Order: sequence, then structure tokens, then C-alpha cells
Amino acid sequence: MKVEFARKDFGAVSADLLVVPCFKAKVPAWAHAELAKVGVEKDFVGEKGKYYLLPDKGKPYKRLMLIGLGKEKNVELDDFRLAAAKAVRGAKSARLANVAILLDFNGAMRHSEKDVATAMVEGALLSDLKLEPYKKKKKGGRKIERLVMISKMDLASAVDDGRVLAESQNYARLVAVEPANIMTPRKLAEVARQLAKEHGFGFRAMGKGELERKGMNGILAVSRGSVQEPVLIELKYNSGKKLPHVVLVGKGITFDSGGISIKPSKGMDTMKFDKCGAVTMMGVMRAAAEMKLPLKITALLPATENMPSGSATKPGDIVRMYNGKTVEILNTDAEGRLILGDALAYACEAKPDLIIDAATLTGAVLVVLGKHGIGMLGTDHKAMREIYDRGMETNERVWELPLWKEYSEMIKGDYADLKNIGSESGEAGTITAAAFLKEFVGSTPWVHLDIASVEWSDGDSGYFCKGPTGKGVRLLATFLREWQKTIKK
Ligand code: BES
Ligand code: ZN
Ligand code: ZN
Repeated sequence: MKVEFARKDFGAVSADLLVVPCFKAKVPAWAHAELAKVGVEKDFVGEKGKYYLLPDKGKPYKRLMLIGLGKEKNVELDDFRLAAAKAVRGAKSARLANVAILLDFNGAMRHSEKDVATAMVEGALLSDLKLEPYKKKKKGGRKIERLVMISKMDLASAVDDGRVLAESQNYARLVAVEPANIMTPRKLAEVARQLAKEHGFGFRAMGKGELERKGMNGILAVSRGSVQEPVLIELKYNSGKKLPHVVLVGKGITFDSGGISIKPSKGMDTMKFDKCGAVTMMGVMRAAAEMKLPLKITALLPATENMPSGSATKPGDIVRMYNGKTVEILNTDAEGRLILGDALAYACEAKPDLIIDAATLTGAVLVVLGKHGIGMLGTDHKAMREIYDRGMETNERVWELPLWKEYSEMIKGDYADLKNIGSESGEAGTITAAAFLKEFVGSTPWVHLDIASVEWSDGDSGYFCKGPTGKGVRLLATFLREWQKTIKK
């Protein structure tokens, strides 16, 4: 779908379908007259969730679609994404390839026209993606070729932001949906190398030998049961420049069987999405580069499988991590924190202004927040407040959990410095995991996002289809865009 912006009167743009978002009791008079022509003017007053696709009209629009948003003062940004998704679905099933959306608001809305334009483009592009690369027969009607956003205001850059953010998120979703037999650690590195090439940033991959030389024994311990070799992927945007520096660390477990502490077979297939932390960070890098953010960004993405075998790490094994701390591995299924521990400690060496990690780290976060929120913990409270705000805007919402010292006590080891699970089974699993990570960041400002709750959609819902959501990409890309303004080098 090609996305364009036209600063014109809507009568001057031609398309197959004109989409008009309408607030409750504020359907434009001309649109109301169109409804009257087909005798449904009383059936539609702009109520939320309702829409009308009117019959053939001729030029310049074949069809007209009115979408209800509900009361103007209550409408949320996500309602615009959902409305755009509805328009895309309607256009596809009516086989209308050229779509125009009219942005004509002048009233009591709580959001800026810019944010609305961005949100609508996001909703359209996110809902347009099909995650069926291996199906011969594709469903979903005709492809939409062109989307034109129309407004009398200059919203060109807001439209472009929406395009970049959603395309980067879709990129992440497409990488994430690949199964573990294809998206091995080595393949993930290859995909990252390609991304770096396309967007002009640096790439480096540390293989098994280098990880051994460096003493990254957390990553090595997790990979020990797999025939696939581990790799620590490094992407560098604006490296060498004197700019605020952020390191993005992402969990890249290409398959999590649990290892010797093996998972039940029901639902184990979804553990191919245990790489979503790494993939999300690749999407963020893509967006940052496209938006040309004046920041230095490094992504560190440890990638490996977690498998059981005769050579696998066993419960009770003790390893020395990259920062010298020793860990008793009491449960091999708590592997994310082991690969992240090494990567976080390595990240600190560059003395960045901020480290953010994203990981499908614990099942417990789903217990705490359901599918509606990302668990956030960390030491940089200013950054966390900003991330919270961006979460509300992007609808990739975060909720902070505490990191009190008692949780750090729960991961003190009996035979080593640390153990990789909390002492009280079933208690505060998301927090003890984060407390473990905290042992590897020293005094570097740090934010951890446990995204295990939001990375997978069980079915078609809103603007997501079944499969990986890529949540975190818009959250972090918009966060970096704002954060960069507050940090001066
Ligand atoms: N990748 C999983 C976390 C996960 C579980 C994500 C379910 C999405 C859905 C992680 O590696 C894991 O297995 N964590 C364990 C930790 C436990 C052994 C302390 C968990 O959450 O059960
Ligand atoms: Zn696990
Ligand atoms: Zn895992």
C-alpha cells in the first residue's frame, strides 16, 4: 500500500473509496445528504463502531464510507486506528484499490490533527498486513494499492511518521512469524545484516568462538543443548558520532523448549516468538534510521535456541557470566535472563546514557496484566515516565512494577552469587526476573520491558491479525524521538 498526503479539498482528489470519519451527532451535512438519498439518514449518526458503505456514486469517488467514532470529547487515538482498519477491510472486500481518508476535524477533540493522521495511517497499514508467507492461497480480497490522506492542514510529516512507524512494526511482525526451523540464530543475524545494509548502519555478529573468548557464558550455557550455534548480533546507528547514546538489548531465543526443564507440549509452538524482543529492537532501529533521529543507537541481540540434549545445561549447573558474577541455573527454562545478563553487562562498557531491553521474559507478566499491558521495571524513572506517556499514545501501554530490595534477596544463590529463579516459586515472577537483570547493569540508567504478554494475538482483533503484533516498535521509536530532545550531549 502506497501512502500519500494531499493538502486539497476532498473534491479535488480522485479515489475508488472516500472514507469519512464522523463524530457522534456531527456527521457533515453533505454526507448526511448522501445518507438521505438512500434513506438511511436516521440509522447512522456517527455512533462508535458503526459504519456505512454507500452505493456507487460515480466521480470522483465510486463509493463513500462513513465511520462512526462516538462522542468527540471521548474519542481516543486508538479509535482512529480501529476506524482506519475498518476502512481497509471494507475496501478490500468491496475490491476498491484506491482509498482516500478525509481528515476534517475542527472541534472539541482531545488530540492533535497530527496525531490523528499518524494513528490512521498506522491503523491502515497494520491491519493490511497478512502473516501467511507459506500459504499458496491468500485470503482477504483485493490488495489496496494507494491510500491518500486528505486534509486542509499540512499533515504531510505526520502521515509519513505513521507510515514509517507502521512499516517498521510490520517488518518486525514478518520476521517474528517465521518458524524456528527457518529463523535460526544464524538466519536472524543474516536478516539483521540485510537490514543494516538497507538502512546504512553498522553490523557485527559475534559467533560461538568469540563468545567463548569473551566469557559470555550465559549465552553459551543456554545454547549448549542445540545444534544451532549462538550469535550476539550488534547493530550500530550513527556510531562514532557525539550524540546521546542508547543501547537496545533484545531477547532473541529463536525457540524456547525450556531445555532440560522442558515445557509442556501444549502451546510449545508459540515459543518460536521468544525472539520478539530482538525482532522488536530491529524494528525500532529501522524506524529510528528512517526518521533520521539525531541519536547514537546500538542494538545488542543475543540469539540462540534453548533445547534439551545430552550436552544441554542441567539444573544445578553453575556458570560465570560476562561481568564475573556466578549463577546457579536451577531452571533451564528461565533462559532469557541468562542471555540478557551477558548482553546487558557488555552494553554497560560503552557507558551509554540509557539501556533499554525488551524480552518475552516471563509467563507471569500475563498473569499480572493480561494481554493489555507491557511490564516495565528499571532504574531510570524519567525515561519510564516518558515511556508510559508514549504507551498511552501508541496503545502499546506499559505499567511499572517495583524493584524493591527484597526482590533482589529472592535471587541470591546458595552455591553461587545468584540463582536464575526466585526463591518463592509462584511469587513475583516478572519482578524477580527483572531483579536478576538489574545485577548486570551496574549504575547505567536502565529500563526493562517484559513484552511476553503482548507479542502474540490469538486471533484477528482490531488492527492485528492472528500472530505476532510487533508491539514495542512504535512505543520505543516514538519514545526515542522525544527522549532525544531532553538529553543534550
Ligand atoms: N519465554 C518464556 C516466557 C513466556 C512464557 C513467554 C509464556 C510467553 C508465554 C521464558 O523463557 C520462561 O519460560 N520463563 C519461565 C520462568 C520460570 C521458569 C521462572 C516462566 O515464565 O514460566
Ligand atoms: Zn524459557
Ligand atoms: Zn524464553
